Formats: sequence, C-alpha cells, structure tokens
Amino acid sequence: MGLEFAIDKEKCVHCGKCVKDCLVGIIEFDGDKTPRLTPDAEERCINCQHCLAICPTGALSIRGRKPENSEPVDRQQNPEKLLNLIKNRRSFRHYKPENLPAETLEKLKNMLNWVPTGCNNHGLHFSFIDDVEVMNEFRGYVNSELLKQLSKTPVRGIMNKFSRYKDAFLKGEDVIFRGAPHMVVASAPIDAPCANVDPIIALSYFELYAQSLGVATLWCGFAEACLLFFPELCDKLEIPENYKASYVMLFGPADVKYARSTQPDPVGISIVKKGAVQKIGLKQKIKRLFWNLR
Ligand SMILES: Cc1cc2nc3c(=O)[nH]c(=O)nc-3n(C[C@H](O)[C@H](O)[C@H](O)COP(=O)(O)O)c2cc1C
Repeated sequence: MGLEFAIDKEKCVHCGKCVKDCLVGIIEFDGDKTPRLTPDAEERCINCQHCLAICPTGALSIRGRKPENSEPVDRQQNPEKLLNLIKNRRSFRHYKPENLPAETLEKLKNMLNWVPTGCNNHGLHFSFIDDVEVMNEFRGYVNSELLKQLSKTPVRGIMNKFSRYKDAFLKGEDVIFRGAPHMVVASAPIDAPCANVDPIIALSYFELYAQSLGVATLWCGFAEACLLFFPELCDKLEIPENYKASYVMLFGPADVKYARSTQPDPVGISIVKKGAVQKIGLKQKIKRLFWNLR
C-alpha cells in the first residue's frame, strides 16, 4: 500500500524536526532540504506518526493521515485538576443497574485508540459488554459455574482464591461483578512485545478517563481469575485467536458518592546517588534475578 508520505512544499519550512524525531531514522532531507523517506522506510516504519505530530506547519502527511484531521494540542493543561482526579479515583462496588448513555460508551471506546503500546504494536483488543441485559446473562453464567465449584468440599486448588468471599457468594451476593452493568476485557496478541503491560496501561487510561466523565469503575481480579477457570468465557467475549485475556474492568453509573480523597501511607521512594552502580556478589545477584523473574 505504501506509506503515502507527502510533503506540502508550500508549507514545509525545512526545519528538520521530522527527520530528528523519527525513532527509526527513515526520514532524510533531499537535495532541497525537503524531507523524504529512505528506501527501506516501508519495512521499518512503526506507524508512530511522530512526523505528522511534530511538523510545526502541518506540511507532512503519512499513511493517508493529513495534519488538518489531527486534534491541536491544548497547552492549557490543568495539572491540579488531573492530580485531584488521580487522588479521588475510587474502586466502585455499587452501581445503578442501568446502561450508560450510548454517547458516553462511544467516548470511552474511542479514547482507547490513543493508548501507548510497546513498539507501537497497537494490536490490543477490547471486549465490551455494553448492555446490562448481556451483562446479567454473563454474570448469571459465571456465578452458576462458580457456585458448582464452591459447593464442593473442600474447595480445591485455584478456587481457593475465592474462599474469603465464599460465604457472601453462597448467600447470593454478587462478589465478583458487584452489580456492574458493563465490563471491558483488554487482551493482547500473545507475541506482542509488551503483551503483559500494554493492556494494563490501556485500562489505567480507561479508568481515569471514565472517572473524569463521572463513570464508576472497578479493576476486577476476580473476573480475571474467572477467565482462567472458565476459558469458554474468552470465546463468549470474542477474544481473538492467539490473544491472551489480560485484565477486566467493570464500569457503569455509580450508586455511591465519595466526598473526599483517601490518605494512603507513603510509597517507598529511593533517590539514586552518583556512583551508586557497583558490582554485587553472586548471592545477591541470584536473589535479584529471582525477585525480578517473579
Ligand atoms: C489489579 C487490581 C485488581 C483488583 N481486583 C478487585 C476485585 O476483584 N474485586 C474488588 O472488589 N476490588 C478489586 N480491586 C480494587 C482494590 O481492592 C482497591 O484498589 C482497594 O480496595 C483500594 O480502593 P481504591 O482503589 O478506591 O483506592 C482491584 C484493584 C486492582 C488494582
């Protein structure tokens, strides 16, 4: 198909920013100091579109993306508001049993196109349950399968993950899905360079954007475990072949309001000093390797 690289010569100011910022070095100047692609560009381009984004005069198009169709950068960022959102992001466990407006669901899905992925792989897949009726059917299936497992005595193996909530579950509480009307599962191609990290980044962005829109969310380790116990769920969710289901987020209209931020204990922070990198003994090396591989 080609990279459809085009320079509007009227607009190009020959600043070389596209040449300098190209991660894979496939843009060079021709004799007139006009940017052009190197002969191997097509195999090496990772479709990051930094050249399109950095051009100060909107002279550069690539892959059919024209600068006039990009969104301008808003320089009026509000870091205090963003920090307040981060501090007041909460895990919601009480939802109204109703669908979010279609427009809100669309906004949430659309945002996912911009989440960063390792090597710009962008192969993520998101399975949405965007209708409460479908969610209730899904919830019903999982809860009845879990009930069969948890009714066995003793509860075996991996099912012990649920043991803390077993009594509540047996009393009919929705301890897995917390009554949420919607759910999104992020999955990545098994051979993606950062398959374990990309979906988590995506859901982190999703959560913050959702909560900025007043939508409640919940990371759901229990639902993720259910995808492992009952792999047929991955087919129900239309997770593509050769994709690994990574994590689950529940979301929907909140049925509870939080009035203030929490006051967490401080995280561990170390400040690395000059000359800090030194050889370590074999025992320490093995320990470090063990911890890193966990
Ligand atoms: C990776 C991850 C998995 C989680 N899984 C669940 C879950 O399965 N069920 C649940 O009720 N809460 C779950 N939580 C929510 C945490 O328990 C929650 O972060 C904690 O209660 C603190 O509340 P906060 O997020 O409002 O600060 C999960 C959170 C994370 C980050």
